Amino acid sequence: MDTRPGRTTLGIVGTGNFAVALSKRLTMAGYDVVMGSRRPEARQTSLGLINGCLCGVELTSIRECIHKSDIIFVAIHKEDFGITLKPFDEETQGKILIDVSNREYRYAIHSNAEHLASVLPKASVVKAFNSISAYTMESYGDSAGNQKVFIASNDPGARAKVGDIAKTIGFRVVDMGGLKSALFMEEFVLKVFSHWKVPLFLTFGIFNLWSLYIVYIYFIEATQFSWEQVFLKVLNKPLCMTAITVLALTYLPGQLASICQVYYGTKHRPFPRVLDTWLKSRKQFGLIGFILATFHTIASALMMSPTYYSSWYHKVTITVPANSNLSSHLVLPVSQAWMVWKGEAALLAGLTGFILLAVIAVTSIPSVGESLNWSEWRCVHSKLSLAVLLTTVGHVCIMGAPGWAKAGPLKSFKSITLLSILLPMLVIVLRLIFSCPPLSGYLRKIRRGWERGSGYQVVPSASVYNTNETSKASYTGIPLEASCECDNSARGQLPCVTHKTVTANSQCDCSV
Ligand SMILES: Cc1cc2nc3c(=O)[nH]c(=O)nc-3n(C[C@H](O)[C@H](O)[C@H](O)COP(=O)(O)OP(=O)(O)OC[C@H]3O[C@@H](n4cnc5c(N)ncnc54)[C@H](O)[C@@H]3O)c2cc1C
Ligand SMILES: NC(=O)c1ccc[n+]([C@@H]2O[C@H](COP(=O)([O-])OP(=O)(O)OC[C@H]3O[C@@H](n4cnc5c(N)ncnc54)[C@H](OP(=O)(O)O)[C@@H]3O)[C@@H](O)[C@H]2O)c1
Ligand code: HEM
Repeated sequence: MDTRPGRTTLGIVGTGNFAVALSKRLTMAGYDVVMGSRRPEARQTSLGLINGCLCGVELTSIRECIHKSDIIFVAIHKEDFGITLKPFDEETQGKILIDVSNREYRYAIHSNAEHLASVLPKASVVKAFNSISAYTMESYGDSAGNQKVFIASNDPGARAKVGDIAKTIGFRVVDMGGLKSALFMEEFVLKVFSHWKVPLFLTFGIFNLWSLYIVYIYFIEATQFSWEQVFLKVLNKPLCMTAITVLALTYLPGQLASICQVYYGTKHRPFPRVLDTWLKSRKQFGLIGFILATFHTIASALMMSPTYYSSWYHKVTITVPANSNLSSHLVLPVSQAWMVWKGEAALLAGLTGFILLAVIAVTSIPSVGESLNWSEWRCVHSKLSLAVLLTTVGHVCIMGAPGWAKAGPLKSFKSITLLSILLPMLVIVLRLIFSCPPLSGYLRKIRRGWERGSGYQVVPSASVYNTNETSKASYTGIPLEASCECDNSARGQLPCVTHKTVTANSQCDCSV
């Protein structure tokens, strides 16, 4: 069966929003399209009124539509499969039916696609396009080229044909294997910000804890600010403390994963559930940290003056000499002053950290991230992240250290600057420990597949990285074939764990 435009007639059962958008997209790519309706005459008029000319699309009965095409999109709701399609059991024999439907509820025992296969058992059912909205389908030429179409079917030939059509109309294709995956594909589109819930709750909790501490320090233990400063000056403190804590939480799980790998002597043992979920939420933690740091940067810049940050500026005074009218010198404070080194250095470190963080954030935009190869992505996310932690810890140390020296070891532990860098310091120390030989070499061996006590030898010049978290793999050295895993979940996309092959110097290709 040919799937090229101009030689193929594609059927669409249904004339709703999705069907109309799909028909436009298919005809634009050069396909002949036949739409099947229960009431073609009535729909002809109403569709004409709404959409103007559906040029090149033939509107017929469902029977005629199925008769004229070998590949048919089923663009009706699951509840209507039985009543609308059952009468065409014989007509669909050997045809490919593409189920685009979604469920109303997240949890189900069987997928809509499996239900369709049971209604029309003589057809080859393919699950596809359900993650593409009618709106995206119509926005041809915008971001559509970046959209992925996930395809599942028990018939590999049908899967390949539907994949060809998806590619022809400008989508990228991800092979999800057999029809069993349809259950998951339908569930995924119903998840609402699922990876964001835990990071958001945790951030909220951390912010509240820091806020309580700030209230205690600045309003209960000592009255340092009036309530008028609550909106910016006081709020800025728990915000930046939460930002630095959340950034540390972004990079801590990688180190905990390393501890597990060294402890167990293998990378093949699953991580504890909490750590696994945490590893998969690093993108969300990182982006939340970036948003908080942005707020802090702007708020700090708005308040930057000797009134708000007196210790960052030189004290400038005007001395009026005593004269006949004054009994002594009159000293007037002046607000125009240069910054002391501490203020400038702290700002430089903060600004550097913020800009590096912005670079990391930009690479998590899918179109940017996908333009980087594995090494570039690792360089930004692993190397720059260390620079971010070092500069922001430096930013806080510069402003806090003079106070710690004055207060002494016991009192400085109450200081918010010291408290806020404890977790980031822990991450930095762990990273340094794991990057020093012999531990670094041992960890590298484990990540390349070596297992303690297994007797398995790592090929010296080959290195295959476990790609679970980033969907990219690098493989250098001798031309050896190895398998890599594609799991896009950490990058905020539909998780698809499939096993593919990487060859020398190639990347793990997660598309079909
Ligand atoms: C602003 C911002 C945006 C971000 N955007 C993204 C993003 O788009 N996508 C993203 O993934 N992260 C994102 N992050 C988080 C972070 O930058 C990356 O996760 C980065 O790869 C962490 O590097 P690392 O060196 O700490 O850990 P890694 O070197 O990645 O991990 C350390 C160890 O843990 C193991 N490991 C890690 N995860 C897994 C896993 N799931 N299964 C098995 N083993 C694992 C590795 O094999 C390695 O041994 C973002 C962070 C920030 C601040
Ligand atoms: N809209 C989206 O963005 C989107 C995105 C992804 C997936 N989907 C899926 O695509 C399918 C269609 O969605 P839609 O938004 O296009 O729905 P819709 O606008 O409600 O259209 C459904 C169409 O089904 C046809 N139909 C066939 N038998 C029917 C019956 N017994 N009762 C009622 N209608 C019947 C109707 O066409 P006739 O009256 O001409 O027969 C109707 O126009 C759904 O399964 C949906 O989950 C939609
Ligand atoms: C990644 C970016 C940054 C992080 C994580 C961060 C974090 C912090 C932390 C934890 C503090 C200590 C809180 C306190 O003692 O009050 C702080 C203070 C401060 N930072 Fe940043 N910072 C960042 C970037 C910046 C930038 C770019 C600026 C410049 C505009 C800046 C300006 C300040 C100021 C003025 C203070 C003192 C706040 C106060 O005393 O109220 N920071 N920052």
